[in-house]
Amino acid sequence: MNPLCLMENVKKTFRIGEDLSVEVLKGIDLKVDEGEFIAIMGTSGSGKSTLMNLIGCLDVPTSGRYLLAGREVLGLLDDDLSELRNTHIGFVFQSFYLLPYATVLENVLLPTLYREKTAGHVERRAAEILKLVGLEKRMNFRPNRLSGGEQQRVALCRALMNDPEIILADEPTGQLDSKTASEIMNLLSDLNKKGKTVIVVTHDATIASYAGRVIHIKDGIIIDE
Ligand SMILES: Nc1ncnc2c1ncn2[C@@H]1O[C@H](COP(=O)(O)OP(=O)(O)OP(=O)(O)O)[C@@H](O)[C@H]1O
Ligand SMILES: [Mg+2]
Repeated sequence: MNPLCLMENVKKTFRIGEDLSVEVLKGIDLKVDEGEFIAIMGTSGSGKSTLMNLIGCLDVPTSGRYLLAGREVLGLLDDDLSELRNTHIGFVFQSFYLLPYATVLENVLLPTLYREKTAGHVERRAAEILKLVGLEKRMNFRPNRLSGGEQQRVALCRALMNDPEIILADEPTGQLDSKTASEIMNLLSDLNKKGKTVIVVTHDATIASYAGRVIHIKDGIIIDE
């Protein structure tokens, strides 16, 4: 079976101003198989979010090879890149990034706005996903009436809307207390058991312990697994 993600010697350099640049990823080799649950750990500034953005096709490598679901990412145009991203990836972030003036249901429906499907069908699907995480009674609430854990569950539902193979979660529990954090991690575990590939960035060893594999990154390289 082909790996879901395959990175070979991936480097990422950011330009800062005219003649200064900084190499943030210095040669990443990474293979992710379907169904894995991976934690990425490392100190602040080590390049974890940069790596997640590359895995999720929010950004492209400066050099090296990256195959996502068998497709070469380097050289893709923006439209093809977003198509690849929307098909395969669901994102969850530390600050939930919900739209404040939209309801819970509308927030979950966001990823489908770009797709043509009958409204009834996608709304039923959103409602089912919200029910899965116990938020069926919150569908018409605005995010500011929800707890942090509930908001993150909404964000997770939004990530699931396009039924991606991969869920990328960058510090998903960074703003949550430990009990709420473990609820979110249990949800991610359940999704992984149902076949989703999950990659989580965390500083917290307890959070990392949910993963089947832990990758440590330091100064832009993977130092050990
Ligand atoms: N767009 C950018 N332009 C310039 N430098 C950047 C850019 N994005 C990230 N960097 C730099 O790359 C380095 C790694 O950043 P990154 O966000 O990947 O770290 P991180 O491991 O996620 O840290 P944290 O744990 O604090 O979230 C940092 O020094 C950061 O300043
Ligand atoms: Mg980060």
